[in-house]
Amino acid sequence: MQVTMTVNGEEVSAEIEGRTLLVHFLRDHLRLTGTHWGCDTSNCGTCVVWMDDEPVKSCTVLAAMAGGHDVRTVEGLETEDGLDPVQQGFMQCHGLQCGFCTPGMMMTARALLDRNPDPSAQEIREAISGQICRCTGYATIVRSIRWAALHPDGAQPADATHPDATEPAPETAGSPA
Ligand code: FES
Ligand code: FES
Repeated sequence: MQVTMTVNGEEVSAEIEGRTLLVHFLRDHLRLTGTHWGCDTSNCGTCVVWMDDEPVKSCTVLAAMAGGHDVRTVEGLETEDGLDPVQQGFMQCHGLQCGFCTPGMMMTARALLDRNPDPSAQEIREAISGQICRCTGYATIVRSIRWAALHPDGAQPADATHPDATEPAPETAGSPA
């Protein structure tokens, strides 16, 4: 079957099998491998992308269901002005180790900040509660998203060694929720 959708602002069209999941369409057909595929059982959240500005787990969506919709992946976070503040926050505050969960975390974080520009640590933990990180203990992820909230215009030159990046994490390690 033929499917047509908008991905990161560009219309794309491809011939696919009806059973093709959106995560595989993005990775295998479009080579947008920033979206990761972790569990295929809707548990890990590393596959989160946006469909019409709402975060979805792309392993739970058939590519055919995304036909006619607007999909955004982590590759679409960066603009001509540079990295999104969320991406900068993960750099500033060491929000990743292996990076496997990071694309999904960033997409969820951007969606959260778009509807709540100043979320508390608890609200951040609730937002990412459907996503698993096996490396960081979540504290630096929460801190990274808080950094983005505090820097909506991104890093300034003086932020190159921003104190947020060296302060002890305000949250203890553990489950995000
Ligand atoms: Fe989609 Fe794990 S691959 S939730
Ligand atoms: Fe490794 Fe999150 S940074 S799984």
